Amino acid sequence: MKFLSIEEAMKRGKGKVSIRGWVYRERGSNEFKFLILRDVTNVIQCVLKREKFKKQWKEIDALQVEASVEIEGNIQKEKRASTGYEIQVSKINIVGVSNEFPIQKDLNEELLGDRRHLWLRSRKMVSIMKIRDTVLAAMREHWRQKGFYEYHSPSLVGMQTEGGATLFKVDYFGKPIFLTQTWQLHAEPAIFALEKIFTIQPSFRAEKSKTSRHLTEFWHAEMEIAWQDFNYLQDDAEQLIKYIVKKVLEKNKKQLEILGRDIKKLEPVAKKKFPRITYDQALKLLKQKKKMNITWGKDLRTIEEDKLSELYDTPVIVTHYPKVVKAFYMKEDEKNPKVVLAFDLIGSEGSGELVGASQREESIDKLKRNLKKQGEDPGKYEFYFDTRRYGSVPHGGYGMGVERVISWICGLDTIKDAIAFPRTMTRYNP
Ligand code: 4AD
Repeated sequence: MKFLSIEEAMKRGKGKVSIRGWVYRERGSNEFKFLILRDVTNVIQCVLKREKFKKQWKEIDALQVEASVEIEGNIQKEKRASTGYEIQVSKINIVGVSNEFPIQKDLNEELLGDRRHLWLRSRKMVSIMKIRDTVLAAMREHWRQKGFYEYHSPSLVGMQTEGGATLFKVDYFGKPIFLTQTWQLHAEPAIFALEKIFTIQPSFRAEKSKTSRHLTEFWHAEMEIAWQDFNYLQDDAEQLIKYIVKKVLEKNKKQLEILGRDIKKLEPVAKKKFPRITYDQALKLLKQKKKMNITWGKDLRTIEEDKLSELYDTPVIVTHYPKVVKAFYMKEDEKNPKVVLAFDLIGSEGSGELVGASQREESIDKLKRNLKKQGEDPGKYEFYFDTRRYGSVPHGGYGMGVERVISWICGLDTIKDAIAFPRTMTRYNP
């Protein structure tokens, strides 16, 4: 038997076909068994007549949801079937029977989490995982087209980059080390060799908050580039998001429909230029339009980012944050040393911060001063300072939260569904 996918079989539309898959729905009567089979491409109704399967009827009648089968039969159009086709089955091979599947309608989030390994088969998760595949491929295509090299950094590291509060400690043969929060300190050294680099790899943050936007292990798409300035970073992040959205709209209309995503909300993102405002302008806008008073020098919280995003139908780039709220490696603005050449790209529809970026500080003295202010020992960062000692050049980069982007594009209620096995403060199994 040469097996066709369900989509291929439906394209063929008539004649004898062989397909294989899992029982998605089943219903029986004295005379018939109706199986809706699913494979990775679609679902199709299959009809088995009792009189044709006298010897096998007991097993066929006992088939339950998620059993795996191979079938052969005649395919034809059938208006009443959910995908418009039906197969009159002439042969069936039961490959794997199924126990009663422990996922029924209306299971609560906790139980779905416990049965995640089985929930992955749901139409929702399959749709999200297909979109995730498009997003990751688009990221790689975007950077490769611009001549970037894919480069990887270690996950086990000796120092913090994004502040000590979210560091995961690891017992490394009796020594306390950490899981990396970002590739950055091990990426900057490589731009003096490869000039333009990117990665897509996990980062780890011991986030104590149980929000719909935080994972403790998330996939981080990061780029770093030599000889470029702050504007280049903003342009590249905007182009990357546009490219990802364009590719998902091209390839995944069907999956977006299954997820009930209003794609009209994504269309402006692919077409319109993203507004760029400074932190000061953001505070003014929030005061004027949303009656929110934020003291200068405070970081924008989730609620403020959400309110800001309501003012636009595309993501918005907020630049020049106060130095006090940002990381030690961000470059001071020469025109105003109270702010840094950093930006956050805030997603539309209240999807939160999708990208964090900055031009990198080149002065070793300033880097040391910033670290000491955070109570860090600059001695641990000597290898990093070396990048400034031997032919330093203007450079910068950014990080994009892969699951944040997927969650926004798919219109998910929680970031947890943007990854197969989410890790959060309370979940590390299965
Ligand atoms: O803004 P962040 O902390 O920036 C950095 O880590 C930089 N070193 C990146 C760089 O310049 N190479 O994180 C970047 C992005 C955030 O904008 C957010 O989208 C995502 O990473 N992110 C998280 N996603 C899910 N769960 C978490 N706990 C996240 N923390 C950050």
